[in-house]
Amino acid sequence: MLSLLLPAVLVVQALAVMEVHVPELPVVALHGSDATLNCSFSFTSPFDLSELSVFWQLTDTKRSVHEYWNGRDQLADQAEKFANRTSLFPTQLGMGNASLLLHQVKVTDEGSYTCFVRVQNYSSAALLLQVAAPYSKPVVTLEPDTNLRPGDEVALTCVAYGGYPEADVLWQDGAGRNLTQNISNSLVANEKGLFSMTSVLTVVLEPNSTYSCRVTNQLLAVEGLASVTISGQNIAFPPVALWVTIGLAVCLLGLLIALAAVCRRKIKESCEEARREAAALNPHPAILLAPTHLGSKEQP
Ligand SMILES: *[C@@H]1O[C@H](CO)[C@@H](O)[C@H](O)[C@H]1NC(C)=O
Ligand SMILES: *[C@@H]1O[C@H](CO)[C@@H](O)[C@H](O)[C@H]1NC(C)=O
Ligand SMILES: *[C@@H]1O[C@H](CO)[C@@H](O)[C@H](O)[C@H]1NC(C)=O
Ligand SMILES: *[C@@H]1O[C@H](CO)[C@@H](O)[C@H](O)[C@H]1NC(C)=O
Ligand SMILES: *[C@@H]1O[C@H](CO)[C@@H](O)[C@H](O)[C@H]1NC(C)=O
Ligand SMILES: *[C@@H]1O[C@H](CO)[C@@H](O)[C@H](O)[C@H]1NC(C)=O
Ligand SMILES: *[C@@H]1O[C@H](CO)[C@@H](O)[C@H](O)[C@H]1NC(C)=O
Repeated sequence: MLSLLLPAVLVVQALAVMEVHVPELPVVALHGSDATLNCSFSFTSPFDLSELSVFWQLTDTKRSVHEYWNGRDQLADQAEKFANRTSLFPTQLGMGNASLLLHQVKVTDEGSYTCFVRVQNYSSAALLLQVAAPYSKPVVTLEPDTNLRPGDEVALTCVAYGGYPEADVLWQDGAGRNLTQNISNSLVANEKGLFSMTSVLTVVLEPNSTYSCRVTNQLLAVEGLASVTISGQNIAFPPVALWVTIGLAVCLLGLLIALAAVCRRKIKESCEEARREAAALNPHPAILLAPTHLGSKEQP
């Protein structure tokens, strides 16, 4: 007797239990794109749309996102931030599809959404919406960037913007080793809630060193990379070479002065010698030295 009744009870329960299904994993939507929040429900027998109620709500605050009952959308209670941005799929409702289309997803849309459905019986389920935006390609700058000397302390700044959520930043040297010390990161949100990420790495300069900044958006599994190589170009004379250069310059200058002095003396000597020789040959050196062209000016 019991073995006959039990299947009958199970059938009745199966008919009565209603199931609402939503994605178990968070729904990731790109900032600015349209997102479909899937929600499907089971029903035991064909129904009229006028018997169906669908309530999409914010799970935490119970604020209305979208409502449908009496055979049409009911948006009088809709939260302001969803105005003109939501719709169901009217042709799909009769087939157990109460999914919500959300236009132009914003950072502030992130959170838990409950899909509540009533037809014959009722049930609900909640899903999580996550918003994502890729970061711009990072850019690395050097401060200061001129007159660098090995041993100087410099700040390398890596900037990437317009992303969401928070990025992971990894600094590496030319050999791919993680640099973990002396890094300070900061995150600033713009009016859209998108982040600008700034990471500053302070290093003691060595010639021929490469520093790269890797910015990863875990949610989108995308990363951007920028690097800077500090070569001889950025680096001024290292101290030792500078002093050697100055020393050489001073030596050269001294040598030139000495040479000039020697030359001067030699010229003077040879001049006097020439004068003496001339004096010995001619008792009137003044006439000898007089420019010849002066003579042509004299009127005959
Ligand atoms: C509605 O479903 C619940 C279980 O979700 C069940 O306990 C209840 O009996 C059902 N009610 C009707 C009227 O089918
Ligand atoms: C929504 O449901 C459809 C059909 O089941 C599926 O193809 C799609 O991947 C789902 N989308 C999400 C975001 O779960
Ligand atoms: C519901 O219908 C829409 C529009 O056809 C579709 O994109 C979505 O994947 C459907 N969802 C489910 C859970 O079937
Ligand atoms: C929604 O659309 C209506 C009609 O197009 C418009 O009057 C209203 O200002 C819009 N609301 C928002 C918040 O955009
Ligand atoms: C560097 O750090 C990243 C992230 O923290 C890690 O995955 C990677 O294994 C590290 N690499 C080295 C060489 O330490
Ligand atoms: C970190 O910075 C301090 C001073 O700014 C410096 O003394 C130290 O050597 C730096 N550490 C590393 C690993 O660069
Ligand atoms: C720096 O790199 C250049 C070119 O790769 C090389 O010629 C030079 O010797 C290197 N200097 C040092 C100090 O490693």
